[in-house]
Amino acid sequence: MHVVVNGKWRVQKARNDHVDEAEAGNPMSGYRVGYIVGSLSAKSINRTLAKALIRLAPENLKFVEIPIRELPLYNYDFDTDYPPQGRALKDAIAAVDAVLFVTPEYNRGIPGGLKNAIDWASRPYGTNSFAHKPSAVIGASPGKIGTAVGQQSLRSVLSFCNSPSMEAPEGYLHFTPGLITELGEVTDKGIEQFLKDWATTGAKI
Ligand code: FNR
Repeated sequence: MHVVVNGKWRVQKARNDHVDEAEAGNPMSGYRVGYIVGSLSAKSINRTLAKALIRLAPENLKFVEIPIRELPLYNYDFDTDYPPQGRALKDAIAAVDAVLFVTPEYNRGIPGGLKNAIDWASRPYGTNSFAHKPSAVIGASPGKIGTAVGQQSLRSVLSFCNSPSMEAPEGYLHFTPGLITELGEVTDKGIEQFLKDWATTGAKI
C-alpha cells in the first residue's frame, strides 16, 4: 500500500454515519458535504473509499450522495429546457456546503461519466453550480500512483469552474484487495489514520 501525504495531521477520534437527504438539508445538523463517486460501476473501489471516509470523518460533517448515474450525455441544446436529471444535480449541489469527489482515474484523466456530470452542473451559462462552492478530491486505484494524474486533471476543471479546492493533503490511495471492507472498514491502521486525518483537514476548510 502507498499513500502520498503532504501536510500536517491531527487525530480525530469521531466516527460518522451516512445521513439521508432530509437531515443533510437541515442547517442545524452540521456541515453538509455532497459526495460524488466518479465511477458508475456497482463494484467501485472508490465507492468503498467513500464509505470509509464517511465512517472516519468528524461528526460535524454530514454526508449525502449526489448521484450522477442517470444523467444523459450533456449538450447545450438542453440549456433552454434543462431535464429533471440536470435540475436535480444542480439542486443537490446547491443544497450542500461543499462537494467531495471520490473518483478513479481513467486513461490518466477524469472518467467520462464524471466529466459529463460536471458539465451538466456548470450550465446553463451563468448558473455554474460550482462557483464559490468548496470542493475536495480523493481517489483510489489498484495502480501505484493511486489516481494522481486523474486528480490533477479534475483540479484543473474545478479551478476553471471557480470551485475553491482543498489542496493539501493530497489523497492518492493504492487500493489492494481487502484494504477496505464492503462496509467501509479500513483494515490497515496506517491508512485508516491517513483517511481520518485527511477528512479532519477537509473539515477545517
Ligand atoms: C482504468 N484503470 C486505471 N487505473 C489507473 O490507475 N490509471 C488509469 O489511467 C486507469 N485507466 C483506466 C481506464 C479505464 C477505461 C478503466 C475501466 C480502468 C483501472 C482502474 O483504476 C480500476 O478499474 C479501478 O477499479 C476503477 O475504480 P472504480 O471504478 O472501481 O472505483
